Amino acid sequence: MERLDKIISQRTQHTRSEIKKLIKDGAVTVDGEVCRLCDKKLDLSCEIEINGEPIGERYLYLMMNKPEGVVCAVRDNTCRTVIDILPQEFCNRGVFPAGRLDKDTTGLLILTNDGDFSHRIMSPNKEIEKYYIAETDKPLSDESIKMFEQGIIFRDGTKCKSAFAENLERTENYRVGVRISEGKYHQVKKMLAVCQVNVLKLTRISIGSLSLDVKLHKGECRKLSNVEIEQILFGKLN
Ligand code: URA
Repeated sequence: MERLDKIISQRTQHTRSEIKKLIKDGAVTVDGEVCRLCDKKLDLSCEIEINGEPIGERYLYLMMNKPEGVVCAVRDNTCRTVIDILPQEFCNRGVFPAGRLDKDTTGLLILTNDGDFSHRIMSPNKEIEKYYIAETDKPLSDESIKMFEQGIIFRDGTKCKSAFAENLERTENYRVGVRISEGKYHQVKKMLAVCQVNVLKLTRISIGSLSLDVKLHKGECRKLSNVEIEQILFGKLN
């Protein structure tokens, strides 16, 4: 349950004083009935309208092309975060990054204010696959590719689940594609390090069967469609 004024503030661009006035003036309806109480406690599934227009949806799901140099956190004392670079319209919606990419990793990042959804993406039990492209100092040997399949073992003894790795066409640097279904700290870099391959650049390309929108420049984000949300949770990579 949440206060009416707080719900409106989270889902619209109105200021606190505008919201108060709209409610007092009778412009706000809850499930079709005018409600003039700012502090009315409501179930979050209530349908709220202002002057007959439904307010924004309860949850927000965003795709960001994360740039280098920002951290996947809501707040940080020393560094800019992915929340700091959100467009104004998404700023006060309580979104947070669903999963982490390192500060120097770029690519597909999902942001949401739906805790259950975030949990489902990140849960190792769900085994949602993520595909990364690493620019590297050398290609992977056939033996290393087999090690990915068998489950890489880190230097501290931690065993990774079976994963997929492939050498991709070389551009400026060597390029390696890696598909994993878990999310250990620095996982891709550490897996490649076990194979004596150094990562120069890392980009996440997809989560489930949802791929990074190539039209999004680094630092940009956009809302996900319902179909895209399903692609994350239920899609398998090809
Ligand atoms: N693996 C890494 O090493 N870094 C990331 O940011 C994501 C996966």
